[in-house]
Amino acid sequence: MKGLHVVGVSHAYGDKQVLDNASLLIPAGEVVCLLGPSGSGKTTLLRLAGGLERLQKGRIAIDDEIVADKDTHVAPEHRGIGLMFQDYALFPHLYIIDNVTFGLFGQPKDQARRRAMDMLDQVGMTRHATSYPHRLSGGQQQRVALARALAPEPKVLLLDEPFSGLDTNMRGQIREQTLSVLKASGVATVMVTHDPEEAMFMADRIKILGANGRILQAGRPHEIYYHPRHEFVAKLFGLMNRFEGVVKGGCVEIPIGKIRAKGMGEGRKVEVLVRPEGVTLESDSDNGTPVEVISTHLLGHDNIVRVRLTEKAGDENGKELYVRIHHAFEPELSKRITAGVDPEYAFIFPLDKEGGMSGNGNISVSQPEAAE
Ligand SMILES: Nc1ncnc2c1ncn2[C@@H]1O[C@H](COP(=O)(O)OP(=O)(O)OP(=O)(O)O)[C@@H](O)[C@H]1O
Ligand SMILES: [Mg+2]
Repeated sequence: MKGLHVVGVSHAYGDKQVLDNASLLIPAGEVVCLLGPSGSGKTTLLRLAGGLERLQKGRIAIDDEIVADKDTHVAPEHRGIGLMFQDYALFPHLYIIDNVTFGLFGQPKDQARRRAMDMLDQVGMTRHATSYPHRLSGGQQQRVALARALAPEPKVLLLDEPFSGLDTNMRGQIREQTLSVLKASGVATVMVTHDPEEAMFMADRIKILGANGRILQAGRPHEIYYHPRHEFVAKLFGLMNRFEGVVKGGCVEIPIGKIRAKGMGEGRKVEVLVRPEGVTLESDSDNGTPVEVISTHLLGHDNIVRVRLTEKAGDENGKELYVRIHHAFEPELSKRITAGVDPEYAFIFPLDKEGGMSGNGNISVSQPEAAE
């Protein structure tokens, strides 16, 4: 297969285990995002793939050629990889064009220059070919670094938090442009990020690393968002409304509705996590559980509403919920509002940690994903 294949890689610094049997499969043309907390081994995994770190256990292949295993260590410059780190590492004393040409040693000079100009054109930076890096903004430097990494036509591109130095506005724009350059090049890309939304935007597939260096879940963005197998994965995308309950008649009842608990044993104690967009609100309706509106904030497309359960919710009286709804619905503080739950955004996890299934069925909780 063309692309990067990491199989069963474990790594320790001294006696500190940072990766535990991690596997990745990235076909040419795909972008895979590694998402995980600080210290979960994301950079270590990139460094191992790039050959900057000696492999201790497992196997790494690029386009079906083994580049690292217990007997092999192909040097970084012979792996056909492009690297780009957070600080871009442009050479301050070289013009932009010479920065991009730098990786094309061995090619005739005019050919290298043509290739570099072509790459600068793809990232919209030809105008700056004869500037020095310090004359460019962060976003412009990022684009030059991308052009430099892609100029030698690597088989695999390794990006470590490539947008973290950019402000929010610029980030959105640059990542869109970066994605189209990556897709046009057909390179297999691994990108590390801290930002779940960025991963959702960029990735064909997302790998979630847990604090113990194990891959907790892998899947397409839709799967990660709508079918989190692990509480940690569910909580990555921000605030959740949390309830506890017991499985009865195949369902769990929470104050704002009843959710099917497929595959979960009767009488099992569970927690239910509901995304803010999974709480539905209606005004002057007979459906749902009465709530008091505490505040509403317009966020543009959405409204963020804080509501409080009333005495009708029994034990949960007074509990506050966070709701995200379409901006067209602006609940007035004085009106009668009721809340319900959309089960698509509700996830059930066992509290006794013996394993089980999530709210939308078919997902086992406690077993991390097996190696690919
Ligand atoms: N060269 C090294 N020597 C010893 N320990 C190291 C070395 N490099 C990394 N570590 C440790 O290994 C763990 C994983 O580090 P790594 O940089 O891979 O994490 P990360 O997921 O990239 O974190 P971050 O999100 O903060 O960049 C951390 O605890 C780190 O302190
Ligand atoms: Mg890192």
